[in-house]
Amino acid sequence: MKKLYIETYGCQMNVNDTEVVFSIMAKHGYERTEDISEADVIMANTCSIRDNAEQRIWGRIDYFNTFRKAKPELVVGILGCMAERLKDALLDTGKVNVVAGPDAYRSLPTLLEAVQEGHPQINVELSREETYGDISPVRIDRNGVSAFISIMRGCNNVCSYCVVPYTRGAERSRDYHTIVREACECVEKGYKEVTLLGQNVDSYKYEDVNFAGLLAMVAQISPELRVRFSTSHPKDISDEVIDTMAAWPNICHHIHLPVQSGNDRILEKMRRRYTREWYLERVARIRQAMPDCGITTDAIVGFCSETEEEFRDTLSIFEEVGYDAAFMFNYSERPGTLASRNYPDDIPLEVKTRRLNELIALQNSLSLESNRRDVGKTFEVLVEGPSKKDPSELCGRTGSNKMCVWKDSQHKAGDYTTVRVLDCTSATLLCELA
Ligand code: SAH
Ligand code: SF4
Ligand code: F3S
Repeated sequence: MKKLYIETYGCQMNVNDTEVVFSIMAKHGYERTEDISEADVIMANTCSIRDNAEQRIWGRIDYFNTFRKAKPELVVGILGCMAERLKDALLDTGKVNVVAGPDAYRSLPTLLEAVQEGHPQINVELSREETYGDISPVRIDRNGVSAFISIMRGCNNVCSYCVVPYTRGAERSRDYHTIVREACECVEKGYKEVTLLGQNVDSYKYEDVNFAGLLAMVAQISPELRVRFSTSHPKDISDEVIDTMAAWPNICHHIHLPVQSGNDRILEKMRRRYTREWYLERVARIRQAMPDCGITTDAIVGFCSETEEEFRDTLSIFEEVGYDAAFMFNYSERPGTLASRNYPDDIPLEVKTRRLNELIALQNSLSLESNRRDVGKTFEVLVEGPSKKDPSELCGRTGSNKMCVWKDSQHKAGDYTTVRVLDCTSATLLCELA
C-alpha cells in the first residue's frame, strides 16, 4: 500500500470531498496517513473563496516540496476549488505534479499512474452529472458521532462576489436513494448526527423529491439520528422546509441563513435576489414555527461602493435578528466574478477592517446575550467527546448548535444526555448534568 496524506481547506463540502477521495484511492492501493513525512503522495484540497485562503495554500505547496529532498519520488497534488480556478498555472510552478478539480476525483488513480511515469497531470473538467452518489466516503472526522453527507454539488446562483459557481460548476442534485442509503450506513456505523450539505440546499430537487421531502426521508431513518443541514439561501428557504423542521423532533432547530448585507442596494449589487424586508420576514416565519431555532449567518463588509450608512444597515440587521453566531469577512475580489468585471474594489482595506471589527464586536455581544437567555434552561445534547480545555468535562451541542461543556464521568461520545445551563461565555454554555 502507498501512503496518501491530504490537508483540507475551505468548507464542509471540501471535507466531505476529501472523504470521497480517500474512498476512491483506497480501492487503488492507497491508504490514508496523518503523518506527512511518511506520505508517498501529499495533497491539499483547496479553497478559493477569498484571496487569503489561496495565499495560505501557496505557503503549503512550498512546505510540501521540502519533503522531496528525502523522497525524490514524492507526488504533490492540488485538488478542489483552487485547482479548478488556476488550472495549468499550478503545474507551471514546477512544484505540483497533479491538479484535479472537484468533478475529476474519479480520475485520480489514473492521473497518479501517469505521474509516476514522470509527466505532470491535470484534469479540471467540470461535469453536469457527477455527484459521487455511489461512493461511500471514508470518514475522516474525529469524533465518530457526526458525519457530512453531500446532497448536491455546484451552484447556479452566481452571486456577483462569489467564485463558487466557477470552481464547482452547475448545480446538480444527488439521487435521494443514495443519500438515504448513506445515512443508513452512518447509523449502522454508530453515527448519531448527519449534516446534509449543499451550497443552496433549498434548491435540492431529484425527480419529484424536494428538500423538505428529503429532510423527512432522512429524519425517518431513526429517531436517534439528528439531522442538520447547510446552507440555506434566504431567497429559497420555503415554508415547507420550515414546517418539516418543526414537525420532526430529530431535525435540529438551527438554520444557517447567510445575510451578506443588511442594505437593499448592496444586496442587489451582490445579486442575492432578496431584500432586507424579505429576509426579516423569513426570520419571523422561522421563529413563529420554532421559537427556539438557532439562527446564524455570514456577512461581507466593504463590498464595492458600500457607504458607511449602508454598512450601518448590516449592523442594524444583526441587531434586529439577534444572531446566535456569525462568520464575517472583508470583501475579497475574486478574478472572473461579475463583481470583479463590473465594479471596482474601492473600499480601502483600513475601512473594511474597521467595519469588520465593529461588526465582530457587535456579534460578540449578541452571542453573549443569546447565551445569557439560555442560562437556567435545560437542553438535550449529543455528546461529542471530552472538552478541549478540561478532560474531566464533556462537550456537545444543543439542537440549536450551541456548544455546551459540563463535568461528567458517566457518558461518552455518541450518548444523548440532558444538561442545565449555569453560566456562559459568548462562545460556550457552561452546564451541569440535569
Ligand atoms: N452558498 C453559501 C455560501 C458559501 S461561501 C451561501 O450562499 O450563503 C461562504 C461565505 O463566504 C459566504 O456566505 C460569504 O459570506 C463569504 N464569501 C463568499 N465570497 C466572498 C468574497 N469574495 N469575499 C469575502 N467573503 C466571501
Ligand atoms: Fe456563492 Fe451565492 Fe452560490 Fe452561495 S449561493 S455559493 S454565495 S454563488
Ligand atoms: Fe472554498 Fe470551494 Fe468551499 S471556494 S468555500 S472550498 S466550495
